[in-house]
Amino acid sequence: MSDIDTILETLELVAEDGIDVTAATYEDYFKVSPESIKLMEHMDHLMRGRMLNALIMMVMMPEGTPKKDVIHFEVKTHSANGVKSIMYLQLFQSFHKAVKSALGDNWTSDQEGAWKREITQLMEKIERNFATL
Ligand code: HEM
Repeated sequence: MSDIDTILETLELVAEDGIDVTAATYEDYFKVSPESIKLMEHMDHLMRGRMLNALIMMVMMPEGTPKKDVIHFEVKTHSANGVKSIMYLQLFQSFHKAVKSALGDNWTSDQEGAWKREITQLMEKIERNFATL
């Protein structure tokens, strides 16, 4: 199974359990990135929800040009608002943590590996985009 399929499986399990990880993700994210509280203070829960949905879509996209284009677009538009590269890593990690904690004891080392590898790959692409700004 590909890493993306494994990640999709974890998200499906969370959805089947009726768990919404949005609140847990942002709660953890704001703890590790207090700077983001101010940046996002004008965003209501709907905007924050849409942003997390966009993040999920980005994570789920297979490798290729559309994924590269989406990453390029997000980095370009977000950097104009003061969003830094480290904040993406922190947000991905908070999301990963929330999904992992929602699945509790059922979390496997394969799932952990797939999430870590995908986050590393996303961050390589994001940092490459920051380098061209
Ligand atoms: C892969 C990661 C991310 C994706 C896919 C993403 C996506 C989005 C999307 C789709 C919106 C528009 C929401 C709407 O419909 O109103 C948005 C807004 C916003 N995002 Fe993100 N985001 C990401 C990471 C971040 C990070 C790390 C920050 C750091 C604080 C951030 C800060 C913001 C802010 C401040 C806005 C509001 C911009 C405005 O006022 O127009 N985003 N994001």
